[in-house]
Amino acid sequence: MHQTWWKEGIVYQIYPRSFKDTTGNGIGDLRGIIEKLDYIASLGIDIIWLNPVYDSPNDDNGYDIRNYRTIMEEFGTMSDFDELLAGMKARNLRLVMDLVVNHCSDEHEWFQQSRSSRDNPYRDYFHWWPAEKGAPPKRWSYFDVNENAWQYDTHTDAYYLHYFAVKQPDLKWENPKVRQEIYDMMHFWFQKGVDGFRMDVIPFISKDTTYPEINATAPHEYIAYYSNGPRIHEYLNELNREVISKYDAFTVGEGPGIHIDQALDFVHEDRKEIDMFFHFDLMSLDRKPGEVFTMREDAWKLPEFKKIFSDWDTAFAKAGWGSLFLANHDFPRSVSRWGNDSPEHWKNSATLLHTFLLTMRGTPYFYQGDEIGMTNVRFTDIEDYRDINTINRYEHVKNSGGDLVAFMESEQHAARENARTPMHWDASQNAGFTSSTPWIRLNPNYTNGVSVAHQETEDYSVLSYFRKMTAVRKSNLALVYGDYECLHPDHEQVYAYTRTLGADRFLILLNFSDDTVTYILPQHITYNRKVKVISNALILDDQTYKEFMLGAWQAVVYRLED
Ligand code: GLC
Repeated sequence: MHQTWWKEGIVYQIYPRSFKDTTGNGIGDLRGIIEKLDYIASLGIDIIWLNPVYDSPNDDNGYDIRNYRTIMEEFGTMSDFDELLAGMKARNLRLVMDLVVNHCSDEHEWFQQSRSSRDNPYRDYFHWWPAEKGAPPKRWSYFDVNENAWQYDTHTDAYYLHYFAVKQPDLKWENPKVRQEIYDMMHFWFQKGVDGFRMDVIPFISKDTTYPEINATAPHEYIAYYSNGPRIHEYLNELNREVISKYDAFTVGEGPGIHIDQALDFVHEDRKEIDMFFHFDLMSLDRKPGEVFTMREDAWKLPEFKKIFSDWDTAFAKAGWGSLFLANHDFPRSVSRWGNDSPEHWKNSATLLHTFLLTMRGTPYFYQGDEIGMTNVRFTDIEDYRDINTINRYEHVKNSGGDLVAFMESEQHAARENARTPMHWDASQNAGFTSSTPWIRLNPNYTNGVSVAHQETEDYSVLSYFRKMTAVRKSNLALVYGDYECLHPDHEQVYAYTRTLGADRFLILLNFSDDTVTYILPQHITYNRKVKVISNALILDDQTYKEFMLGAWQAVVYRLED
């Protein structure tokens, strides 16, 4: 297996709007990130993925870009950006930018031109359906109040396509001029010194421009269709050839709709497309079948969780590479979702999840605040939400006479803004995030031990464990590249696996439950001596060869010696 920095690196994702405000406008900014660079470096991470910082009217918090080559005013200036990048380089941190090119903002110059007349030179930068052909074939939209991805535009008596919000028209990659504009823009950022891109909804860029009727009803059926456009691999290959291949860069795609059987078509080294992508199987595990944002009724089960990770590990065991994540800015907080954030189990479950991600094969991604175990905010009032996704879906449910109480209850677990409340720096007013009113309400538990300042002073904190655990990964290449074997796929409480590289062998035991459990190793795992590498709790009993007593949410890593 080819070894390289982006396989060995640990990624830390920053959502700038909620990271640190230095200007007192209630919105995080680039200078806030500059201020915290020493802190970020102290975490033992190597790569920062920055959510979009480009000029935007913020209909979807920066995922609606008005100008790809300027910085959003609320976040600062290009010279702040340059200083940030220099500060990262001085600390050996790499920077991955968000690349949002399936769509842009309707306020982008291209779209302004495009919508102005049918014969404008920019007309063919977007997907238009002339009204005289009748209503276009149905396309489902993520954020549209009516879930309709076609928006009628009076200026030219035509509909334009928007898979996301009305203010996010889809760019027409079929037009070579559009592709060239995007490649030029990527060169602009590479020449500044960025190290790569996280590519927003990248499988959606290729479309069948005959816009046929499609056989889909549930959102997942549409998404599967969107991610299987006829020219997707041609575009990714061209983008790699024209841009990526010219730099020591890495690319990670957001991969909604990519089926595991297609995974290597995107990331096999020989195909020269992208390096890795985020699959959505885990993110769908606690959702209603076919739905994106609605919670399923029963609880997810550990064997289902393991199967997802084991299957994807197998997919990349011989070629390609995987990305590992439990949370990001689009999903609820990791400890609330996959652990147990009640006071009794919060600390162990947060540290168990850190142990997990940092002992699996693939590149691990953490989202800001994970390192201190930030939890879901669980807003109860629609007025507390700022996200177009929650607000427009609320309207949709209301207009269609749906159950708003059930919707609000589901959002407490599913809403993206669970992850977007401001970072907790300390226990002072507004958690040290801003000196004025934050753009979104804080999670009140920043006075309750969930803050950086508090955890810096504790002997044993989620934060101190996170730092120890990143050091463990970085000093053991077997945890990066080693073979993975899941020991008891059907065990409902314990996730046990080994990682092996040559003579280096690790045993990882994770008790994903509120109970104390005795775990018995399978027959075929033999060893002479085991050495504890790290654990998030006192070892209860591991005196015998095969039997391990694990406390609630206990995580232990052993080195096995022959
Ligand atoms: C991706 C982003 C999400 C955004 C959407 C539209 O899923 O992660 O935040 O809303 O694309 O750009």
